[in-house]
Amino acid sequence: MSIRDEVKRVLVTEEQIRERCQELGRQITKEYSERNEKPLLVALLRGSVPFLAELMKYIDLDIQYDFMDVTSYAGTKSTGDIRIIKDLETSAEGEDILIVEDIIDTGRTINAVMGMFRNKGAHSVRVVTLLDKPDRRVVDVRADYVGFEIDDYFVIGFGLDYNQRFRALPFVGIPKEEVYR
Ligand code: PRP
Repeated sequence: MSIRDEVKRVLVTEEQIRERCQELGRQITKEYSERNEKPLLVALLRGSVPFLAELMKYIDLDIQYDFMDVTSYAGTKSTGDIRIIKDLETSAEGEDILIVEDIIDTGRTINAVMGMFRNKGAHSVRVVTLLDKPDRRVVDVRADYVGFEIDDYFVIGFGLDYNQRFRALPFVGIPKEEVYR
């Protein structure tokens, strides 16, 4: 029995992810070069790690990357207040921050993190996300770069988890119902 037997359907294949990362990497390279900017990639733990690793292979710029871990305050998921579990090692002041996310759902997390970087005096704040679920949006926020727009499925793999499982799968899939029942 393999963990893959718990997947009902593959939504985005490993090949599609690689090809899309190549396209996004080229686009990011072009647009940041034109502005003469070097992005500081900020990956939000933990889900964005596989996407960061794939994407940055195709960004032909003098980049740096760092990690941040945030969580919603318990019981206040609706307010969008976030608590920093792990902050950047690098100062954001004057930096061209490119936040790397695995998924944007309601948009609360990314909205709060973007606001925080603006308050810290970043020169620019942009977002690249592997997946976007626009139908779920509660806060009016858009990513500058989107890998794949998806319908409102419960998805796992390529960083995305269910109870911390499935993150290491090399594709994005939909789990069988018995997994979360
Ligand atoms: C997930 C995801 C985004 C956020 C999206 O993180 O990685 O950060 O939720 O949801 P939102 O748009 O509704 O705010 P999670 O807290 O599950 O952490 P993880 O990356 O460690 O799985």
